[in-house]
Amino acid sequence: MCGIVGYVGKNKQALHVLIEGLKALEYRGYDSSGVAFLNNNKIQIIKEKGKIHNLEVKIDFSVTSNLGIGHTRWATHGEPSQINAHPHKVGKITLVHNGIIENYEELKLVLKESGYSFISETDTEVACALIDKLYNEKNDILKVMDKCRNLIRGSYAFAILVDDIDDKLFVMRKDSPLIIALGNDENYVASDVPAILKFTNRYILLNNNEMAVLTSDSVKVYKDSNTIIKKDIDTFEWDMEAAMKNGYEHYMLKEINEEPEVVYNTIYNLIKNGSEELSSIFPDFSKYKKIDIVACGSAYHAGLIGKTLIEKYGDIPVNVEVASEYRYKKLFYNNRTLVIIISQSGETADSLAALRIAKEHDVDTLAIVNVVGSSIAREAKYVLYTKAGVEIAVATTKAYSSQLAVLSLIALSMINNDDNFDNFVSDCQKLETQMTNLIKKHNVYRDIALEIYQKNDIFFLGRGIDYALAMEGSLKLKEISYLHSEAYPAGELKHGTISLIEKDTPVIAIATDETLNEKIISNIKEVKARGASVILLTTSKLNKVGDYYDYKIVVDDNNELLQSLLTIIPLQLLSYEVAKLKGCDIDKPRNLAKSVTVE
Ligand code: AGP
Repeated sequence: MCGIVGYVGKNKQALHVLIEGLKALEYRGYDSSGVAFLNNNKIQIIKEKGKIHNLEVKIDFSVTSNLGIGHTRWATHGEPSQINAHPHKVGKITLVHNGIIENYEELKLVLKESGYSFISETDTEVACALIDKLYNEKNDILKVMDKCRNLIRGSYAFAILVDDIDDKLFVMRKDSPLIIALGNDENYVASDVPAILKFTNRYILLNNNEMAVLTSDSVKVYKDSNTIIKKDIDTFEWDMEAAMKNGYEHYMLKEINEEPEVVYNTIYNLIKNGSEELSSIFPDFSKYKKIDIVACGSAYHAGLIGKTLIEKYGDIPVNVEVASEYRYKKLFYNNRTLVIIISQSGETADSLAALRIAKEHDVDTLAIVNVVGSSIAREAKYVLYTKAGVEIAVATTKAYSSQLAVLSLIALSMINNDDNFDNFVSDCQKLETQMTNLIKKHNVYRDIALEIYQKNDIFFLGRGIDYALAMEGSLKLKEISYLHSEAYPAGELKHGTISLIEKDTPVIAIATDETLNEKIISNIKEVKARGASVILLTTSKLNKVGDYYDYKIVVDDNNELLQSLLTIIPLQLLSYEVAKLKGCDIDKPRNLAKSVTVE
């Protein structure tokens, strides 16, 4: 997620405030940064790709400036580059932006017809040009901002400077956070508290669709260009660490809580222009007779779910392999093979190697990646970006869920007709609430965690997609709580593993597939009969009272293409609660790295 900082004041050097503020936002992840500041009555822009250090070395800090804006960019539209970095300046308008302008292409066409040209690939530059065009027509920036709100679709937090207005900073937001912080003879704006906590803890929350004008000694918040709103001044009690986690105890918990929004953004980004456009975004899957999905860890587990959905709906055989095995095995390619690489970081060495092997064999490659401009994203023939934003916790949650969302859309695109598409869209609309309600059931997961956190071995059982979910649940538990667990296909138990089941052995059984329900229930009864303590994870539709479980978690029913996005949440949160009870370093588990860039 990008970062915004802004300053207008009499007591500090704007450039120092901007750089300090951007550094405090580095934890959010970024790939470029920039500042715009008033220097000798002109707005100067300095921006660079890479780390803030690359920006700092280009800045003359002896420049005295009392007005400026800064930005750290996490690329969503356009590769990480100096040209795509913010701030952007068009005509008299300079701005930084957090969010996604969904209708930027259509706006760009209209602006080009009005004579505007563009140098970057970003949606932000289009917004900047739109504001400049309206400003040239109205010469009243507040009225322009007011009008903009009706023309721009999507999410935005803007901090805006206007040529010839040397004492004001203009801000507006919709669905992207922005706070205004208050100093003495100085005021600040930021996308996140850490950017300003060093300078002040007094702030005003700018609500959705509100605008504001900041000077060194005043802050005016507007509902519209004619209506000023009185705002309460709040005080931040958080320390810096708490602020960086938005008040959550761990980044992992923060990121799980972001899953409903992330999944919505990932799906909406691909379906917003209807079913025809959905099919045009993806490669023509009908060209292929075989798909290899290759990944590591949780991305591999996401691939297993993709396999089940794509085989069922696309009627194409899908082979899912761990990249570290795939890269050394005999491969059977033909010109009708597609290789899909799934990777949050886009830098995992084994996955990148697998991609390169596929390319050496002239096989088409599709990357499902979170980090824009990463190696796997750049080297694949096709790329689909998950919109998970930066994921800080080593154990992936929201990025994994956004991978599932993309795989679901691939399966949907293979049965794409208006009815299926419309049903999917309406099911998506209830998904966000269902996910949020599941996340809120914290106490349920904590109560169960209290029963199992001191055990030595935990078993996860499932069939079909539920087996793939069991594998991901088992990995989450292992990697953050160091508690040994094993995921097993429920039908395999009697072929050996059941010998390990004894009194009170915890078994987490996942049963969401109606077609396999009778089978999994009989497997559960087998372990229950041998003394296991069964935690049943099922759906409302399949939920019934029985003596074959000790604890039960029920998730709502949704479209089969989306059901896994619900089922995974209790598994993530149960692992989180167990790790918390064990006092583990949840965000940075021992021995693990966020991205395994070596073999
Ligand atoms: C997931 O919780 C792990 N941190 C790990 O398995 C991860 O999924 C794997 O290393 C793949 O990483 P990637 O998605 O960045 O390629």
